[in-house]
Amino acid sequence: MRKNIVAGNWKMNTTLEEGVELASSINDALKGKKHNCDVVICVPATHLVSVNAVIEPETVGLGAENCSEHEKGAYTGEISASMVASTGATYCILGHSERRQYFGENNEQLLKKTKLALANGLTPIFCVGEMLEQRENGTFNDVVRSQIEALFSLPIEDFSKIIVAYEPVWAIGTGKTATADQAQDMHANIRMAIREKYGDVADDTSILYGGSCKPTNARELFAKPDVDGGLIGGAALNADSFMGIIEAFD
Ligand code: PGA
Repeated sequence: MRKNIVAGNWKMNTTLEEGVELASSINDALKGKKHNCDVVICVPATHLVSVNAVIEPETVGLGAENCSEHEKGAYTGEISASMVASTGATYCILGHSERRQYFGENNEQLLKKTKLALANGLTPIFCVGEMLEQRENGTFNDVVRSQIEALFSLPIEDFSKIIVAYEPVWAIGTGKTATADQAQDMHANIRMAIREKYGDVADDTSILYGGSCKPTNARELFAKPDVDGGLIGGAALNADSFMGIIEAFD
């Protein structure tokens, strides 16, 4: 059966020193405490090695926020999936809406990134989500379906390793959360699309919600049958609020 997961997405926040301190506070807060979900932190690439040194892999999983669609070579400034894996990280966020929007990442590139992440033993946290205009003009289900379908050329054994994150763009960093019912409806649609293509894999695929998820709304969101946890931005930058979301799984 699928796992419940709470994953932090730190984005372009924290200096190295601040990041190491935050990661170690999260690790300390979780250690020895029973919690009913896996916990992952996805941190800036510059922080991966140092953060890995202060967390225990059985307590907190470590991920990057992106990787290159190229294997290696003359791509100045890029970070490959094998480089990410060599730090000890085991997850990688891919296709975050900020990457799609500000860096023009498209479905074709995201498929390449996903394949390289998987080939290097990383678990992709693959993000999908509609813009406000698409929510308002009623195309949101089709938009999100086509984003997830971008991965449907993967063989079943590869697709079954993927974590999906539904993040409506209008809810990210805006304080405007999708209602638990809106999240549930979309998660059920995503799971249905996966079921049509990959059958029972759909039951084992964790689908996380992201977009202004906080300790105050996490419980209601996570109570929905198809919401298997969260991808957390702002509230993951503080150990207490991140713990508050983790504790929503009790
Ligand atoms: P937010 O970001 O929690 O700050 O809305 C979520 C995300 O972008 O992953």
